[in-house]
Amino acid sequence: MRKPVIAGNWKMYKTPAETAGFFEKFRPLVAQSSHCEIVICPPFTNLAAAVEAANGTAIAIGAQNIAWAKEGAFTGEISGPMICAAGATYTIVGHSERRQYFGETEETVLQRTLAALEFGLQPIVCVGERLEERQDGRTEEVLLRQFHHGIAGLNGEQFAQIVIAYEPVWAIGTGMTATPEIAAEAHRVIREQARARFGHEAGDALRILYGGSVKPENASSLMAQAEIDGTLVGGASLDPVGFAAIVNY
Ligand code: PGA
Repeated sequence: MRKPVIAGNWKMYKTPAETAGFFEKFRPLVAQSSHCEIVICPPFTNLAAAVEAANGTAIAIGAQNIAWAKEGAFTGEISGPMICAAGATYTIVGHSERRQYFGETEETVLQRTLAALEFGLQPIVCVGERLEERQDGRTEEVLLRQFHHGIAGLNGEQFAQIVIAYEPVWAIGTGMTATPEIAAEAHRVIREQARARFGHEAGDALRILYGGSVKPENASSLMAQAEIDGTLVGGASLDPVGFAAIVNY
C-alpha cells in the first residue's frame, strides 16, 4: 500500500509572516488527516518560519531546490546541510520552471537528487513533457529520456527514497489539468521503467504524484486513479482552505 503524498509548491510566493498566517488557518483543517503525508515547500527564506509553524503536527516542510554541492563558491545556491539545518525534510528537484528558466538539465537534476539523498532529504523529482512534445506524440519518449538520463542513475537504495512527480508542462499554472486517464497513463509508463530498472517490488513501491492545475474540484477524481499516489500542487496550495480541501480529497 503506497501512502499518498500531498505536496504544496509555493513557488515564489509568501513572506515569513504570511507563512505563519497560512499555518494558523491550515493546521486545524488537517489535524485529522493521517491518510496522507502532507508536505509544504515554501521559498528558502520561509523554511524556518514554516518549520516552526508546523511544529507539533505531521506536516513536513520541503525546499524547492537544492545545490549539488555541500558548500562552496556557488552564488545564489542553497545546500542540503543548510536545508536540513532549517528543519526541512523534503526537497523538490528538477521542477519544469527550473528546467525552463534556469537551465536545469537531466545531469544537474540527477546531481541535485544525489545531493538530497546524501544529506538525508527526500527528493520529489519532477518529470513531464511540454505541450509541443505531447502534440507530436512524443510524451513517452520524453518520459523515458528523463528517466534514463536522470533517475536511472541512482542505485536501488537511493531509488527507494525518492518520490516522482509527473507534471506535464502544459498543465502547470494553465488551468488545463490532465484528465485522470492521461495522468494515469503517464504514471504507468514511469512505473514500468522503474520496474524494469530497479525490480518489480521497488517499482511497485514507488510513489508517483501528479502535478499541474490540481484544484479542490479535481483532486478526488485524480486521486481515484490507482496509479496516482498523490499530488504536487502549485497555485492552489497558497490558500489554506483550498489546500486543506485537496489534502482531504
Ligand atoms: P500549478 O503548479 O498547480 O499551479 O499548476 C504545479 C507545479 O508547478 O508544481
